[in-house]
Amino acid sequence: MGVVALVPAAGRGERLGYGLPKALVPVGGVPLLVRAVRGLFEAGRVQHVVIAAPPSDVDIVNTVTAPLAPAGGAVHVLAGGAERSDSVRLALAYALREIPGTTIVLVHDAARAFTPPHVVRAVVEAVEAGRPAVVPVLPVTDTVKQVDADGVVVATPDRAALRIVQTPQGFDARVLLRAHESGLHATDDAGLVERLGVPVATVAGHQDAMKITTPFDLAVAEALLVGGQA
Ligand code: CTP
Ligand code: MG
Repeated sequence: MGVVALVPAAGRGERLGYGLPKALVPVGGVPLLVRAVRGLFEAGRVQHVVIAAPPSDVDIVNTVTAPLAPAGGAVHVLAGGAERSDSVRLALAYALREIPGTTIVLVHDAARAFTPPHVVRAVVEAVEAGRPAVVPVLPVTDTVKQVDADGVVVATPDRAALRIVQTPQGFDARVLLRAHESGLHATDDAGLVERLGVPVATVAGHQDAMKITTPFDLAVAEALLVGGQA
């Protein structure tokens, strides 16, 4: 029923420093983006995926992801924007314009290539159950300090009330559109929705949904994750 996944994949992967856009960096010989899209379809709840690709790589992204779509579904590739939020906005506009019946949208980073399909399903089910916005989360295991401009600690938030946020984040499509049209700024899509005053619900995330950002993360993925999922 009307679930479309938007995959921002247009970043350059500067912190990874691999010499390729991060979406195309292979882990166990398979590009991160291919793994991410495969996982979305494997959840069995997504028919259409809209990818915001690096503008110079739209054709190659099309070639490597088109075969992943299930019968009756499709992968759509467009050129992403300058910032992640621009890429999401472009993909959302495309979905609402070109994919009839788009009622629920997931926003999923290509960089979270090993997200287990059951996390995708849990997010979709929570939105279907009536939550306008849903994020997968993990507990915080480190103590977290708030510091001032000089790096001096000013507060120690109660760790029990903190969560690490992952993707896919799930939304009523109209709510996400309103958030992106609001002119507000936030570091993730749920943060934008939160600023509208819309409640954001949580479901259990998974450590395999880690974001691959640095060479360390890539090494962890190669060492721990490829065997189980390749
Ligand atoms: N992204 C995007 N469009 C941008 C920037 C980022 O679609 N203009 C995507 C990335 O491709 C990634 C996700 O947003 O899947 C999260 O971004 P991040 O992990 O920061 O990836 P990069 O921007 O590629 O990495 P870096 O910041 O190190 O360059
Ligand atoms: Mg980035």
